[in-house]
Amino acid sequence: MKILVTGGAGYIGAVLCEQLLAAGHQVRVLDRLYWGYTPLEHLRGRVEIVHEDVRAINPRVLDGIDGVAHLAGLSNDPTAEYNPDANWQMNADATAHLAVACKQRGITRFTFGSSASIYDGLGDGLFDETAPVKPRGAYSLSKFAAEQSLLSIADADFAPAILRQGTVYGYSPRMRLDLVVNTFIKDALLRGTLFLHGGGWMWRPLVDITDVARAHVLCLSADPADVGGQIFNVVHGNFQIRQLAMLVAGSLLLHDKTVRLEDAPLPKINRDYRCANGKLTEKLGFTPHVTVLESIERMLKALPLQDPSELAHPRYYNIKWMTLLEEILSTHAGERSIWDVVPLDAAVGARAPSSLDGPSPSKSLRSL
Ligand SMILES: NC(=O)c1ccc[n+]([C@@H]2O[C@H](COP(=O)([O-])OP(=O)(O)OC[C@H]3O[C@@H](n4cnc5c(N)ncnc54)[C@H](O)[C@@H]3O)[C@@H](O)[C@H]2O)c1
Repeated sequence: MKILVTGGAGYIGAVLCEQLLAAGHQVRVLDRLYWGYTPLEHLRGRVEIVHEDVRAINPRVLDGIDGVAHLAGLSNDPTAEYNPDANWQMNADATAHLAVACKQRGITRFTFGSSASIYDGLGDGLFDETAPVKPRGAYSLSKFAAEQSLLSIADADFAPAILRQGTVYGYSPRMRLDLVVNTFIKDALLRGTLFLHGGGWMWRPLVDITDVARAHVLCLSADPADVGGQIFNVVHGNFQIRQLAMLVAGSLLLHDKTVRLEDAPLPKINRDYRCANGKLTEKLGFTPHVTVLESIERMLKALPLQDPSELAHPRYYNIKWMTLLEEILSTHAGERSIWDVVPLDAAVGARAPSSLDGPSPSKSLRSL
């Protein structure tokens, strides 16, 4: 199949592209390229890249497409709270428009990278996909609205699978160090100390990045009748933050690095929720299986252990990077803002999908 991956140059997207290619599919990426071309550099010549905003899709992007994995948008609370309007346009409105466009074009297979943070606020309990969720905060509200739009038009011809992904851990060519396990590894390497906000008693559902990508590949290849209009939690297990700190500190000890654990005040945004992962196993026979410990080892192999100073770069923290880009653009590009929609013709690096074969990574910053 030929799969369109929106947000394919992001943290999860880069790994999903690798897995889709490995499974024999062709891949076209549509991405605003906030992190440039670099995350897909190793796939140069093997994926088509369309530099476009998901809010202003040229219908030609869907030419020849058999399925869509939709990951584009703002991907955490801080960036969503930073510009709630842009967040709503990207995460909620754009998803609704993309879904209608796919349905009109007869594209049945569709996966959506939703979030288990939708369960936050329900109180204590292990929640499954039938829970009467009450999302709070700009990010989860927009994800839930997107889910509703997809479900409202789901039928035999349009079969979206909604994947409520837990907080992801693991290595990607587009590394994020603002996700709890990854952050702990960075803090352990850079500062030798892990801070347990509020004692770190909060629960989180977690999942490895390769398992998330596997869930998308599986749902895109499944019989649409089995996955269409269905919500699946994609979770390996639920962990207390302090447990995760101990797993990271213990792993680092095996690499001769001592890590201290310290109490710290509760942050402004405090998430605490758990969810069940049985449905994916029951319906599709797939259980996310890569453990936190295995994933930590993979990251320690891939990250610069001897000179970790690189890990402090803002590119690894979505909110730091976005605010930095916004500052650069507002200083040097007059009216333009990173939150503006980039029309196809104005987007540097945008070309007709048929002629894309892996543009130069050196264009990454100019492309913004
Ligand atoms: N990483 C997690 O822990 C996690 C957990 C649950 C859900 N999710 C969801 O999964 C998806 C992917 O997350 P990620 O961690 O890879 O995030 P990411 O920020 O690394 O990737 C998002 C990608 O989307 C692109 N993008 C952003 N706005 C766009 C727009 N308007 N038009 C086109 N492209 C745009 C970015 O350039 C980036 O490449 C997101 O929708 C996120 O909300 C992520």
